[in-house]
Amino acid sequence: MRFRCIRVNKKYAQRVINILRKKNLLPDFRLKKDGEFVLIPIKNGDMPDFEFEYTIEFSEFEPIRRPEPIKARFDVVGDIAIIKFAEGMDIEKIAMAILTNHKNIKKVAVDYGVKGETRVRSLKLIHGDSFETIHREYGIRIKVDVSKVYFSPRLASERWRVVSQVNDGEIIYDMFCGCGPFSIMIAKYRKVKIFASDINPHAIYYLKENIKLNKITTITPILGDAREVVKSIGKVDRIIMNLPHSAYEFFPYALNAVKSGTRIHYYEILNRDARIINRRIVELQKLVEEKGTKLKLIEYHMVHPYSPSSDMYAFLFEVI
Ligand SMILES: C[S@@+](CC[C@H](N)C(=O)[O-])C[C@H]1O[C@@H](n2cnc3c(N)ncnc32)[C@H](O)[C@@H]1O
Repeated sequence: MRFRCIRVNKKYAQRVINILRKKNLLPDFRLKKDGEFVLIPIKNGDMPDFEFEYTIEFSEFEPIRRPEPIKARFDVVGDIAIIKFAEGMDIEKIAMAILTNHKNIKKVAVDYGVKGETRVRSLKLIHGDSFETIHREYGIRIKVDVSKVYFSPRLASERWRVVSQVNDGEIIYDMFCGCGPFSIMIAKYRKVKIFASDINPHAIYYLKENIKLNKITTITPILGDAREVVKSIGKVDRIIMNLPHSAYEFFPYALNAVKSGTRIHYYEILNRDARIINRRIVELQKLVEEKGTKLKLIEYHMVHPYSPSSDMYAFLFEVI
């Protein structure tokens, strides 16, 4: 586009830009260089006074193309962007904007929601050739097919927080391990023994892949229902219960593997009303008291928001 412009020595260019910007006279067009000079386009309006030498001329300028804002929520797992479906969204346009703005993303999928016992997302691939990827977080690599196994990159810092609480020598049971992000991260940074179970055969397949990928030797993968598996692993020092939609239902089973001192990382999606959270803590404590022991709450925190009224919470308990 043709603009009136200022030709000025490059040593004054930044000062001209600042003045034009302040007076809202700088259009969204690229400056041009011409040897020692810079050509700066100006919008119509009163020309400011400059105390240095310049000339006015006309020239063609290229518009500055700013990336379009991406109006959608999406997670990134490895090189896959997973867009949360919303009614009326222009999926193709959003996918193109993501691919243009994020050079590390090669595949785009739309997420129609997480369903069923295995918590697998219902996905449609928009760009790319497969749902398999390798995700990196905190120095570990997680291979996963996101259409066959649950995986959330949003739990990375929560996993790291758990690692920081684990001591060498512990025996740990990861009840709902998925493809193993909690287990792999703990095993990578601590000398521990881990039993990791999942009911989804694809999850256990990828857990085994991740054990190889991260050169881990201390995890025992177990394909099965945690309600049964827990009966055969003996007493452990720590239990990870990452099944936030139905952890409460599984809590009595977890008690089969506890002894005095066992710590339980319990995750649940709850209404953010403090009374509901406190009621849940009391209910869990009652379940333990029925077994003749006590449950102490060490701490709890919100992991991430879940819906307008509910959040995912992490509770750390100790059996005493
Ligand atoms: C929310 S995902 C968590 C996976 C993993 N901890 C992570 O952070 O990616 C819950 C997992 O529990 C598994 N699961 C559901 N019911 C189960 C059961 N009865 N026994 C064992 N695993 C189960 C699902 O297959 C799923 O992989």
